[in-house]
Amino acid sequence: MQTELSKQLGVEYAVFGFTPFPAVAAAISRAGGFGVLGAVRYTAPDDLARDLDWMQEHADGLPYGLDVVMPAKRAEVPGGQSLTEADVEAMIPAGHRQFVEETLAKHGVPALAEGEASGWRITGWMEQVARGQLDVAFDYPIKLLANALGSPPADVVTRAHDQGVLVAALAGSARHARKHADAGIDIVVAQGYEAGGHTGEIASMVLTPEAVDAVAPLPVLAAGGIGSGEQVAAALALGAQGVWLGSVWLTTTEADLHSAALTRKLLAAGSGDTVRSRALTGKPARQLRTEWTDAWDDPAGPGALPMPLQGLLVAEAVSRIQKYEVEPLLGTPVGQIVGRMNSERSVQAVFDDLTRGFERAIDRLNRIAGRA
Ligand SMILES: Cc1cc2nc3c(=O)[nH]c(=O)nc-3n(C[C@H](O)[C@H](O)[C@H](O)COP(=O)(O)O)c2cc1C
Repeated sequence: MQTELSKQLGVEYAVFGFTPFPAVAAAISRAGGFGVLGAVRYTAPDDLARDLDWMQEHADGLPYGLDVVMPAKRAEVPGGQSLTEADVEAMIPAGHRQFVEETLAKHGVPALAEGEASGWRITGWMEQVARGQLDVAFDYPIKLLANALGSPPADVVTRAHDQGVLVAALAGSARHARKHADAGIDIVVAQGYEAGGHTGEIASMVLTPEAVDAVAPLPVLAAGGIGSGEQVAAALALGAQGVWLGSVWLTTTEADLHSAALTRKLLAAGSGDTVRSRALTGKPARQLRTEWTDAWDDPAGPGALPMPLQGLLVAEAVSRIQKYEVEPLLGTPVGQIVGRMNSERSVQAVFDDLTRGFERAIDRLNRIAGRA
């Protein structure tokens, strides 16, 4: 599982792992892959600095990267990215707030304690917050900067390159991939419809070779629906220079989901138990299908608000659902590969399984090709 890109980055395997958890990111790098820490939840720069300090101590000097969320299409509301959190709060219709409360009440979800802050704020989507994260991150020896929702702004690409940091961006179509290439980024993450989190409408099997052709000779990482070594082999066969995995780490022993009930739900879920819904952020994102996503996707309801309104609208509700583990409503972004996430494993065990599966696939293909 070595490619030109993995060699360039100095990692043993061309397996890139996105995760919101520093312990998982460090374990991915230690296992021979390339750990990428998701920064969106770090709205306070000091918290990010603390966790990057921790990464420094626990990644054994091996390379790792950071992922930020700077939406290229500015917020889909008047005023765009210059809006403050208070401006966004003020734009949320009363009827939508009422719908949140009614849905929570229907399931008997208790309120947070007096003064208890909602754990999950959406302000990490705002450019000024993401820029604060970058100011912190560039003080650390990150080797890769990835951006979720479009090409990063030109000055960010230049700043990264000046510091010897490669820039990656996620793309859901060949057209997006081409735009990233034109913006001067170094790696395209072609993310298919099966993936957890924000996704487009094109499946990985179709998207990967299209993206490879669209941006050649830039390297493409295949993302979406990959959880086994056989799938890694398939992605590399389609021309990818590596794979980018997100969902599979959620049920590793190093992950910190803060909810045993959620881990149980993930382990039990089948590949048909996810939905691409706007319930979480206002943009279509694949996640576990729950009574919460059903409520937002129901044509009889008010429907989700555009980004970033929906994220702020539901932030406190999501914290309440998670804190009290209200099972029918409890969910998380996750992709269709959840159907194969059936036991808790360490990150190292995931890598052991990936390398074994990859060998099996190569042996099988060699036999089919008459080479073994
Ligand atoms: C819980 C979760 C959170 C995610 N959050 C982000 C994010 O903040 N930024 C990002 O670039 N991608 C995010 N993604 C998408 C991943 O980077 C990755 O592209 C995707 O998980 C790959 O598909 P897979 O889920 O089938 O492995 C997230 C995915 C999951 C499962």
